[in-house]
Amino acid sequence: MSLEKIDKSNLPRHVAVIMDGNGRWAKKQGAMRIFGHHHGIKAVRETVEACGELGIQYLTLYTFSTENWNRPKLEVDGIMQLLVSTIAKEVPELHKSNVRLKTIGDTASLPAKARRELDNGMALTKDNTGLTLTLALSYSGKWDIIQATKHIAEKVKKSEISIDDIDEELFSRYLATEESPDVDLMIRTGGDHRISNYLLWQSAYSELLFIDDIFWPEFRKEHLFDSVYTYQLRERRFGKTGDQVKKETK
Ligand code: FPP
Repeated sequence: MSLEKIDKSNLPRHVAVIMDGNGRWAKKQGAMRIFGHHHGIKAVRETVEACGELGIQYLTLYTFSTENWNRPKLEVDGIMQLLVSTIAKEVPELHKSNVRLKTIGDTASLPAKARRELDNGMALTKDNTGLTLTLALSYSGKWDIIQATKHIAEKVKKSEISIDDIDEELFSRYLATEESPDVDLMIRTGGDHRISNYLLWQSAYSELLFIDDIFWPEFRKEHLFDSVYTYQLRERRFGKTGDQVKKETK
């Protein structure tokens, strides 16, 4: 896939990734599941670099879901340790590359060490103007919708918001993704075809791309470029007819 084929004027503004298949990839090598998560870091690095090279503005990675807390303690602890060491190691490079680091999710439930590394990384990179890299941690789409609803309800109770003010635009601002645009392209590796409680509201009109023959540790820049190219071949109609869309883009 050559980079020249990608139309830089029609990039997805927001790419979200469900990084699936680490455990199965490790099993294939006869190794423990955590081995797969470790190898997933290279795929994360390649994805961030590819987004940077293209000029994509927002990348949101499903790093640890609310449901992932139910995994064996050994695996959860391993992922948390990997998170701490990866953030500590990668943040200087991210900062150099003008990447802004953010998180979404119930991060209060993360180990203190992980919160500290993330807070330091976010503080250091907060004014960067390149790619916004958001890690979804202890995140689920339903959690997000409920936390936004509670927040809005509190404001209604205090008469800071009137019920009539609640519309899609206001609701979006209370979601954890705040000012990020809705997801244009959602990629999932590993062969399963589902959203798995990821960015439910934000993916209402996302193009879904399931990469079946790749486990996450195998994902490389070319896969991201291929995905963007495929996205550009699709016609996004947002509920309109194909003819209407063609007329608008003329
Ligand atoms: C899904 O594969 C992967 C996860 C639940 C964890 C993803 C975490 C990382 C890649 C490491 C940390 C990342 C950063 C950005 C610091 P799976 O375990 O569900 O695989 P399976 O479906 O084959 O079991």
